[in-house]
Amino acid sequence: MKAFHHAHGHLHAEAVSLTAIAEAVGTPTYVYSAAALRNAARRFANALACIPQKHIAFAVKANPNPAIVKILAAEGCGADIVSGGELIAALDAGMKPEEIIYSGTGKTQAELLAALDAGIGQFNVELEAEGELLSRLAAERGLRAAAVLRINPDIDACTHAKITTGRKTSKFGVPLSEAPDIYARLARLPGLNLRGIAVHIGSQILDLAPLEAAYRRVGEFVAHLRAQGHAVTHVDLGGGLGVAYRDGDAGADLEAYGAMVAGVTRAWNVVLQFEPGRCIAAEAGVLLTRVVWKKPGADQPFVIVDAAMNDLMRPALYDAWHEFSAVTPDGRRIVADIVGPICETGDTFARSRDIDDVDAGDLGVFHKVGAYGATMASTYNCRALPCEVLVEADAFAVVSDRVDLTRLGFKRLASWQEDRTPDLPPVRAQNHATHMPCEAGNTLYGT
Ligand code: LLP
Repeated sequence: MKAFHHAHGHLHAEAVSLTAIAEAVGTPTYVYSAAALRNAARRFANALACIPQKHIAFAVKANPNPAIVKILAAEGCGADIVSGGELIAALDAGMKPEEIIYSGTGKTQAELLAALDAGIGQFNVELEAEGELLSRLAAERGLRAAAVLRINPDIDACTHAKITTGRKTSKFGVPLSEAPDIYARLARLPGLNLRGIAVHIGSQILDLAPLEAAYRRVGEFVAHLRAQGHAVTHVDLGGGLGVAYRDGDAGADLEAYGAMVAGVTRAWNVVLQFEPGRCIAAEAGVLLTRVVWKKPGADQPFVIVDAAMNDLMRPALYDAWHEFSAVTPDGRRIVADIVGPICETGDTFARSRDIDDVDAGDLGVFHKVGAYGATMASTYNCRALPCEVLVEADAFAVVSDRVDLTRLGFKRLASWQEDRTPDLPPVRAQNHATHMPCEAGNTLYGT
């Protein structure tokens, strides 16, 4: 059964009705399915079953919620982090330090130190000066930091311009033309154990050809480094695999990806590292929202929902498509614009979209927002940060509270933001796997 499905007239996440969640915690709320998350992680791992030596590091940027990271750690994933904050998120979720890979273009000295002190598994160095600083900091502590050098293969990932990262004009990695000399210099530094290379050319990639082209360039570089006498033991192939956001579209073919990687890397004899974010988390989450008004428009009506671009940035930022469906559909359809309450025309989730008809007060969801959803939320227009809920079987827990104006330093708690903690009975503990966030002090509800 699909994690998000209709039963008894209501959309459910696993066995929990989204109507019940909205009544319990209000809207807008991100709702994650633990089963969907685990399935996606297993599907990715299975697709790579043919790779003998590998490490799958979930890109925490896609969803740093500790409850999510914790489930993925239990599935055997490590973590790919890009900031000191994500280091804390990963460690707090119980991720073992040695399973953590630190990527990112602008790591500060304080962040490098924090990661060194935590004993993380690998630094992905993005420029020579960063490698020099890391070596100095590590050497001062009597350490040699495991590191790889990120190269920029100058390949267009054929995705949205804002999330393509492997062209020579983008800020990431070092140009292939300069990489041999930079690598040779960094390999001589006392505080580094330079052991390989990294590449990541972008996100939401559907066509495997650019990935394959980038990996072939990496293969040539590995051969070159070995010819120069370097021991290359690790190659980080990054993330980037896309999902099907529109009904009827196809996501990246994970099995074909596994076969392609196995073929290209057959003779490399290295530990391959992967940093998937979106293809693990996207389909495990929906954004639950309530219709505030239905308003006539010049061409078609506006469905004004209580979620806005501050809660889900992707449509405004990348013109991203997220399917919308009613929680209690009655078969009627309508062509409408779905918009939020923020004072910008960019606060638009869908234009001229054929959707389930909804009226004021009805609930709906935006699909496939488990990656790059809640984590990109802001408080623009003095709006609260959305609540996040994790569903497991017939129970759910609030895994991130709504962050309202008071927590942002405002003195008065607005009446419309009063805590909506319900009087539901606590859930029988035996119904839950130990990694449900009940022990983290979160309120757990049963339905
Ligand atoms: N590794 C590195 C070095 C990355 O920069 C990224 C994503 C990943 C791994 C994970 O990529 P994924 O498997 O999720 O495609 N906010 C944008 C996506 C930005 C991705 C940034 N880097 C969006 O909502 O589409």
